[in-house]
Amino acid sequence: MHILHVVGARPNFMKAAPVLRALSTQPASKQTLVHTGQHYDFNMSEVFFSQLEIPTPDVNLGVGSGTHAQQTAEIMSRFEPVALERRPDCVLVYGDVNSTVAAALVCAKLGIRVGHVEAGLRSFDRSMPEEINRVVTDRLADFLFTPSEDADANLKHEGIPAEKIQRVGNVMIDSLVRLLPMAESVPKNGFPERYALVTLHRPANVDDSETLKSILKSLLDINESIDVIFPVHPRTRQRIEEFGYKAENLHLYGPLPYIEFLALQRRAVVVITDSGGVQEETTYLGVPCLTLRSNTERPITVDVGTNVVVGQDSRKFSAEFLKIIEGKGKKGSIPPLWDGHAGERIAAILVALDV
Ligand code: UD1
Repeated sequence: MHILHVVGARPNFMKAAPVLRALSTQPASKQTLVHTGQHYDFNMSEVFFSQLEIPTPDVNLGVGSGTHAQQTAEIMSRFEPVALERRPDCVLVYGDVNSTVAAALVCAKLGIRVGHVEAGLRSFDRSMPEEINRVVTDRLADFLFTPSEDADANLKHEGIPAEKIQRVGNVMIDSLVRLLPMAESVPKNGFPERYALVTLHRPANVDDSETLKSILKSLLDINESIDVIFPVHPRTRQRIEEFGYKAENLHLYGPLPYIEFLALQRRAVVVITDSGGVQEETTYLGVPCLTLRSNTERPITVDVGTNVVVGQDSRKFSAEFLKIIEGKGKKGSIPPLWDGHAGERIAAILVALDV
């Protein structure tokens, strides 16, 4: 059984790591790892490989940045010869980034079976590039590995046959569970005792100058009552510079490594984000999360977990923030199968199916 994994962007790495690890213990399995190079900065890529102990990729396509069409097309044209040469039995793609849909499309046309890890999530908002990537990838995939019941329901509703759907739980939580003890031992010095942790990178929040200005204003307001720690994504940094905004009063950092960021999430009073993965990680950690989006493809983090979706409504944001500061934030629990063993379940299924 030859499994080829395709990863490209930061949120892929913590999802692929547990599956690679679990399959490496299966005697009859051969694995190939392809990095598309969608994310290429050391702090967006290489540091994750080392902390998550992911083997060095066998192939790096080195695609870099571009418009969506350029990036997707570049990944497809560089990946096709690799897939043809390596001829895997199955290609695993992760999450919802451009690398995910590009690789799935190449394989579907070459007749190579595709497994989608983190299938079935839907925001029902086609203005998000990730939503398009999710819908298309799930259409093309042969094996759909889902993290939660809502994902199964979405797929069934779209007419995906039940036998293709396998609920395995949340692979990203596998990485969290494994590395949390290391995060606990990260020294606290240099960081404030009580703080709000912020991440922001969605085009809908950072590409429009007025929206970004209003979010930065909200952050500067809450910075009056609690320190704000803000590791800034490259896209967001570019926009802040381009629009000439000032945010020096906040604790600004570059993108942080996985373990250090996990430590910051664990100890935060509140996490403010527009990321998908961070909504899940805070739910697992029981840390209150305010999501600056008008929807979420991860409703379980709201129904079961600690997440509150506040959109771009600064009044709602302030009200929810106050509740948390006063210790009246939402309490949650951990969703079923978010237990650190999702990668093992995927490996066991692939072995049992003898792909
Ligand atoms: C991508 C994913 C998004 C994911 C996010 C996590 C898609 C459609 N989007 O968005 O779902 O949540 O990754 O980070 O796939 N850049 C650098 N260095 C890098 C990578 C990017 O400087 O290593 C800059 C580039 O100038 C680029 C910009 O950041 O134009 C955005 O990068 P890109 O990969 O296009 O999308 P993300 O916003 O990172």
